[in-house]
Amino acid sequence: MKELSLHILDLAQNSIVAGAKLIEIEVAESKKNDSLTILIRDDGKGMAADFAKTVTSPFSTTRTTRKVGLGIPLFEERAEMTGGRLSIRSEPGKGTELFAEFGLSHVDRVPMGDLAGTAFLLMNSNPQLDFRLLVRVDEDEFMFDTRQIREALGAEIPLNSPEVAAWMMESLKEGIESLHGGM
Ligand SMILES: Nc1ncnc2c1ncn2[C@@H]1O[C@H](COP(=O)(O)OP(=O)(O)OP(=O)(O)O)[C@@H](O)[C@H]1O
Ligand SMILES: [Mg+2]
Repeated sequence: MKELSLHILDLAQNSIVAGAKLIEIEVAESKKNDSLTILIRDDGKGMAADFAKTVTSPFSTTRTTRKVGLGIPLFEERAEMTGGRLSIRSEPGKGTELFAEFGLSHVDRVPMGDLAGTAFLLMNSNPQLDFRLLVRVDEDEFMFDTRQIREALGAEIPLNSPEVAAWMMESLKEGIESLHGGM
């Protein structure tokens, strides 16, 4: 994976597999601290404490098609390459929180890529789930919460109906692009 947005897509996939109903994604860029942070929080089934401790090793996985899980170890490596780190908090039955910190201007920092497209893809292909996206660039922030849209639309119109989807894609793109400096 050459872009952080693809890691976000991959990690949110873990949350979906874990049965999450709400997935919160927060991306914050701070030029002052020279940091880029990514938080992914879900209300899925969580992990037992001893498993969560070992999950950054490529040999921890509950998948059955192949023995090693790579999503989390790769993401951690990407963060550590830039002088950053990854931390995981998880509670069985409650959910999981992944927090990664990157050196913003570090030469080895992988680019963000298409965050709007990634968020849209997640929302559009999982219309029954809720997503909250918060993007911060220094003092500016953009928030997008599917629960608010769902409430405004009412129960009959699904989030992936064509008109809603087109509007969502546009809002995500404009909202993220409007942030000072871009992403
Ligand atoms: N959000 C989450 N909630 C509950 N369990 C999780 C979550 N994320 C990861 N896990 C557990 O940690 C394991 C390792 O995750 P990781 O993404 O590294 O690999 P994987 O999903 O098993 O395989 P890959 O991502 O390479 O397809 C998963 O198999 C799963 O058991
Ligand atoms: Mg995975």
